[in-house]
Amino acid sequence: MSKTIIISNRLPLQLQIDNKTIKATPSVGGLATGMKSVHRDSNGIWIGWTGLTEEEIPADLRDEVVEATIQEQCVPVSLTEEDIDGFYYGFSNRTIWPLFHYFMEYTEFEKESWQSYVTVNQKYAEVVLDNIEEGDTVWVHDYQLMLLPALIKKERPDVQIGFFLHIPFPSYEVFRTLPWREEILKGLLGSDLIGFHTYDYQRHFLSSVSRILRNEVSFNEITLKDRIVTVNSYPMGIDYNKFSEAAAKHDAAKNQSELQRRLDLHIDSTPDAKMILSIDRLDYSKGIANRIRAYEYFLEKYPEFKEKVRLVMLAVPSRSNVPQYQLLKKEVDELVGRINGKFASVSWTPIWYFYRSMPFENLIDLYTTCEVALLTPIRDGMNLVAKEYVATRTDKKGVLILSEMAGAAQEMSEALIINPNNFEEIADALKQAIEMPEAEQIKRNKFLQKRLKRYNVEKWANDFMTSLRDTAHKADIVKAI
Ligand code: ADP
Ligand code: G6P
Repeated sequence: MSKTIIISNRLPLQLQIDNKTIKATPSVGGLATGMKSVHRDSNGIWIGWTGLTEEEIPADLRDEVVEATIQEQCVPVSLTEEDIDGFYYGFSNRTIWPLFHYFMEYTEFEKESWQSYVTVNQKYAEVVLDNIEEGDTVWVHDYQLMLLPALIKKERPDVQIGFFLHIPFPSYEVFRTLPWREEILKGLLGSDLIGFHTYDYQRHFLSSVSRILRNEVSFNEITLKDRIVTVNSYPMGIDYNKFSEAAAKHDAAKNQSELQRRLDLHIDSTPDAKMILSIDRLDYSKGIANRIRAYEYFLEKYPEFKEKVRLVMLAVPSRSNVPQYQLLKKEVDELVGRINGKFASVSWTPIWYFYRSMPFENLIDLYTTCEVALLTPIRDGMNLVAKEYVATRTDKKGVLILSEMAGAAQEMSEALIINPNNFEEIADALKQAIEMPEAEQIKRNKFLQKRLKRYNVEKWANDFMTSLRDTAHKADIVKAI
């Protein structure tokens, strides 16, 4: 039976060695959380990295690693410390990530890390080629593996290959600065279908292809010598029922986790106070430092809200070997300390800050308890947290404030949309959110929920796979002509 092979740098489970045994935890990030439900419902396999390097896995635990991954229909790609240094901390996260998020000043162009990116993409290709059987479909994900489609196509021209980019594709003027721009584009063009979250990313990609490679581009098709590559946008959805059902269960049982008890305590002591939530990986693209500064400005501009609001900020540790992430951690620690020191009273702390990963139940505690979500990325491919927040509002109350720089903003116009660099606008949006009449909250969320329910992650994956199958038919017609 033919199967779908999903490939991403990170597997949906991350392995750690704890007390000489292998422990698995779920991966954080939009790609992993979104694709997990797609994978769960398929008979395919998922190829990727376990989070442990070759050097970290003792010989006697190697079987356990394979065992842990097989259970989840996953196949591990073995990477060395050197690979992770050059490919992951290097080219992926010091070149592509900052460049594609328009952080030019953070972007490094290092030949060694580029070479490591090439080597590791080849390692992935070997594992994929070992696992492909006739009739299989391949779906490659994200910016770490942009050379993979061409590497696979070269060996298996018969196989349908889809690629989806989970981050923005930058404008041609930014992309052209990359010394390896041609190689990256040619790598991607090994695909039969290339998907982006938004039409703007698609447009930027097509313009780069036509200006750099000079391929013929018409509407959403790129003509190569022997094939046509289709490009389209597919805004990724969430597993809506998982979030809304978990929230409904949570409301019914009043799940008393320690976090929930603390949140309830806050509500009991200041019943008319509002909680403002933010959840992200600790990443400079998420605008966390700006958000804290904007919150400070809000408390200064509207002092009547002192003791009446609290910002609950969850930041998940991410890529902590990259200097910019270390600097951001320091900046956020200092900002939180400074603002709490400046405004706190005996009974009130303006910011509750958690720097850790949390289990799913705690995420639901936060989503369901906080009346406002404040998400202010400077750039974000999509931002699934915005969608998850809305999905958990079972009584349809709650207000989402969302940056216009997030891909999600294009489908969520009923949220309060702000420019993350405009503190005035953020402060006013916070006031508006806190004072918004319940009827208006319900009206806005009704539209949002309806859309999120319809365009859920399953629909997103089906749309992509249907288009990929259509490209096969198109290829047959071209051959026949
Ligand atoms: P990104 O992909 O850039 O990290 P998204 O907002 O698109 O940003 O996706 C983040 C995903 O990670 C969401 O699905 C969210 O539920 C999940 N997540 C965020 N924080 C945590 C956490 N502390 N523990 C577990 N999952 C988390
Ligand atoms: C984003 C990226 C993913 C990545 C995730 C977590 O969602 O699009 O590709 O896996 O962040 O980042 P990490 O570097 O920990 O894999």
